[in-house]
Amino acid sequence: MVQNLRFVFIGDIIGISGLEVFLRNISKLKDKYSYDSIVVNGENCAKNGKGISEKTVKRLVDAGVDVITSGNHIWQNKEIYDFLNKTDILLRPANYPSECPGKGYTFYQIKNHTVGIINLQGRGFMKDNIDCPFKKMESLLTLVSSKAKIIFVDFHAETTAEKQALVNFLDGKITGLFGTHTHVQTSDQRILPFGTAYITDLGFCGALNSIIGMEKDTIIKKFITQLPTRFKVEKKPPFELNGIFVEVNSLSKVEKIERIKILDEQPVDL
Ligand SMILES: [Fe+2]
Ligand SMILES: [Fe+2]
Repeated sequence: MVQNLRFVFIGDIIGISGLEVFLRNISKLKDKYSYDSIVVNGENCAKNGKGISEKTVKRLVDAGVDVITSGNHIWQNKEIYDFLNKTDILLRPANYPSECPGKGYTFYQIKNHTVGIINLQGRGFMKDNIDCPFKKMESLLTLVSSKAKIIFVDFHAETTAEKQALVNFLDGKITGLFGTHTHVQTSDQRILPFGTAYITDLGFCGALNSIIGMEKDTIIKKFITQLPTRFKVEKKPPFELNGIFVEVNSLSKVEKIERIKILDEQPVDL
């Protein structure tokens, strides 16, 4: 019997609290979704929420994570740069200059299927001056689709319109496109007319009573004063883990898309 492939995608994991909450809820995710593959966005999962460390990558991989995508914050921990050049598991957005460490796409095998994951970053309201994600995707797609029939894109972007535009540009050419970066889950998950699965933002994994995972006071102060401010990861419960579940049949067609939202009220042991 040919089995469907079951994927889970989790949005930005925020700091030590987001990481611990993600790791302790993996068995719950496994029980509920019986997933074959899990992909997470790890751009904020270093202890202090800035970038990602090699140690954190190891913890995620040991927990069964297949690919870790990222975004603008991948560059915050410079110690990861060498590792980015060596790994196939941790991605940085593909549309940064080619001189940057790392790469923006990867392949892996699930039940004899090759899966391609592409990481891209948007340009609307983002500070970095990067290549056009549409043009970058156009050139990457020929290469990636020659190797994989199942292709997912993490589009790390600020605006809804840019995310909707990219997914409609790619509808029918890729399996799914999921937004990250805003840290707030949207309720617009669906399969587009030509078969591509989509949600504007997966949401985050971190403290619920926070501002995008960080302590509220420091972020409010930043908005009021406009001065450089050191943000701190919020570590108090309750926590939320957000993402998406996607089921793909043997013809690489999406059959199901479902939002994941787990509330976790236990304190984290940090
Ligand atoms: Fe983030
Ligand atoms: Fe980001």
